[in-house]
Amino acid sequence: MNAVKPPLTDDLARVLIDEDSISRRVSELAEEINEKYKDIEEPLMLVGVLKGSFIFMADLSRRLTIPHVVDFIAISSYGKKGAERGEVRLLMDTRENLAGHHVLIVEDILDSGSTLSYLIKTFNARGTKSVETAVFLDKPSRHVIPVEIQFRGFEIPDVWVVGYGLDYKERHRTLPYIAEMIPEK
Ligand code: IMP
Ligand code: MG
Repeated sequence: MNAVKPPLTDDLARVLIDEDSISRRVSELAEEINEKYKDIEEPLMLVGVLKGSFIFMADLSRRLTIPHVVDFIAISSYGKKGAERGEVRLLMDTRENLAGHHVLIVEDILDSGSTLSYLIKTFNARGTKSVETAVFLDKPSRHVIPVEIQFRGFEIPDVWVVGYGLDYKERHRTLPYIAEMIPEK
């Protein structure tokens, strides 16, 4: 699994979280999730937010031992780098009907909180039994809208990070580690 270690390109400052640390932390999160949902009657609905969550979702879901269903949504957000308008729109909904299920939103990173607060509100309005969040990275200093996270991978400082699903203009998404970008001048 860990054979490929792409070198840092000159737009990357440093590796912030290496592959082994990621792997260990994802295993810990999976254990917590297995424990928390061990007694539910219906399978747990994992809902990944595309595209950034796809690698975290793949690793996390394969470590779950409880019955679960994997699904995805796509949203468009104007809260990209530079802008903070916080508008969120659902572009692609889940295939599954979430009503009557415990839902775990799987997200790459919590920044301002607009994406997750929108999704929590939207899914809570659908007759779900519960809506909780598993977030790989959290930038606490960037929060604008308060969001409760039940399962958190790592806290990071206010820097732009890439790898493990996260991109900068579609670049670096498939790096196996989390790297910090050098800000553009
Ligand atoms: P929020 O709605 O402001 O919390 O933004 C969350 C979204 O912004 C994430 O799902 C990412 O797509 C994107 N994002 C925020 N910070 C970063 C970063 O450092 N690298 C890559 N994407 C980021
Ligand atoms: Mg995202």
